[in-house]
Amino acid sequence: MTRPLRPTLAPEDDLTAAAGVDISAAIAPLHEQRYRSPIVRPSLAADVAALIDTSFPAGGDSLEQLVAQVTNATDRYPRRNTHPGFFGWIAPSGLPSDPLAHAMVSELNENVGGYWSSPVGTTIEKTVIRWLADLVKFPQQSEGVLLSGGSMANMSGLAAALAKRCGPGYREQGLAAFSDSSKPIIVCSEAVHFSIRRAAVMLGIGTDNIVAVETDDQFRMRIDRLAEILQRHRNVVCVVASAGTTNTGAIDPLEQIAGLCASHDTWLHVDAAYGGGGLMSAELQPRYRGIEHADSVVMDLHKWFFQSLDGSLLLYRDATWARQLFFETSDYLRSSAEPTPEQYMFFHIAPELSRRFRALPFYMAMRCYGIPRLGRNALHNVQCAEYLADLIRQQDELELIVTPQLSILCFRFRPAGLSDDEIDRINSEIRDRIQLEGEYLMSATLVRGRPVLRVCVMNHATRARHIEGLLASVLRIGKSLR
Ligand SMILES: Cc1ncc(COP(=O)(O)O)c(C=O)c1O
Repeated sequence: MTRPLRPTLAPEDDLTAAAGVDISAAIAPLHEQRYRSPIVRPSLAADVAALIDTSFPAGGDSLEQLVAQVTNATDRYPRRNTHPGFFGWIAPSGLPSDPLAHAMVSELNENVGGYWSSPVGTTIEKTVIRWLADLVKFPQQSEGVLLSGGSMANMSGLAAALAKRCGPGYREQGLAAFSDSSKPIIVCSEAVHFSIRRAAVMLGIGTDNIVAVETDDQFRMRIDRLAEILQRHRNVVCVVASAGTTNTGAIDPLEQIAGLCASHDTWLHVDAAYGGGGLMSAELQPRYRGIEHADSVVMDLHKWFFQSLDGSLLLYRDATWARQLFFETSDYLRSSAEPTPEQYMFFHIAPELSRRFRALPFYMAMRCYGIPRLGRNALHNVQCAEYLADLIRQQDELELIVTPQLSILCFRFRPAGLSDDEIDRINSEIRDRIQLEGEYLMSATLVRGRPVLRVCVMNHATRARHIEGLLASVLRIGKSLR
């Protein structure tokens, strides 16, 4: 019999030594870039690629060199969501406690699939979920899970609604278990985020089976139209309401929608991926009245909770159907459907199995800064948006198109005597020039088919002077183009 070959690893191949780089020193230059202008610099992909070493990674680069390479590249070609003049799309500013917390997450490298693989991670995630469930005023038995983003969380919430609507046969038979002879439908407002359409596609429902409810003059779901639709269709899987639409920041009339859903025994899913952070503010809370009646709620931590990417909370009022849908056990991973504290598995109520310790950065931020202080920052964002709206109202050459319900507004530069086409061209030029100047960034969108400038105030570093600066730039550029 030959002797088993005892493997050895050459000392130079040993990876166990610590990286030997001072993390805080390495990220200090990145922190210094946080508020530097320009926010973005136009580039071709080849310009950026030229700054990144794409040759075969044979090894040998020092970590210091690599830090310098990325620091230099992001400084040359930035996209700074962190900048207080960033008013584009919906992008998180990140909190000063995040880099430390994220480094801890990596060093620990726990897989928070459940208690057995991460007792501390599971305990902290459940704690964070409880705090957020309390903000929504969900009952004590409600459960939740942190997922990668609002798209994943919306899809998972809708999957649970579908499982409930189809009944216990759904796991085995899929949509064939749907008892109605017609196809299952999802009802949402015409302003819903496109992640709902993608969820419908992935769940096998299909976009043809989304019924879009018209919106009112404030871009909120029309309750009279919803009532008609629920009366007409018996095959509704769920109603999706938005607590802060992406385009205009509108909050659907949650209380009335919840009443209709209750009378039709229909699942209510609230997409608060953008707006959820406003719940941290006692002053803003009344705007979300009715959210507490939802069956599932999605809130992105990496939006208005100011957290660095990534993390989105999916809350279930009652996780029974999610558990029926997602529960799995296997020869290699015996697990019980009974969610005793030591058997608790996040992967039993959502699709992800291996999961980062996502709750840690949020736990640290919440404990360090506190919900009231973060809430006052969210409120300050809303006040900045309202201040901008007031400034716009005072300018003859500006037209406020969307009044902020939260921290998003839309407007146009609209001097008298120009055609609609000329106005569209000038507004698009204003947006581009502001971006080129680099101090501010707005996005553009369509509101009822009209091109508008869109401002989303979601950065804890934004102050009134940034709002005034943005407006001054818009007027200066607009007047020069007129
Ligand atoms: C209202 C709303 N829902 C869902 C999403 C999707 O979230 P994510 O980008 O985290 O997947 C967004 C993204 O902006 C959103 O605004």
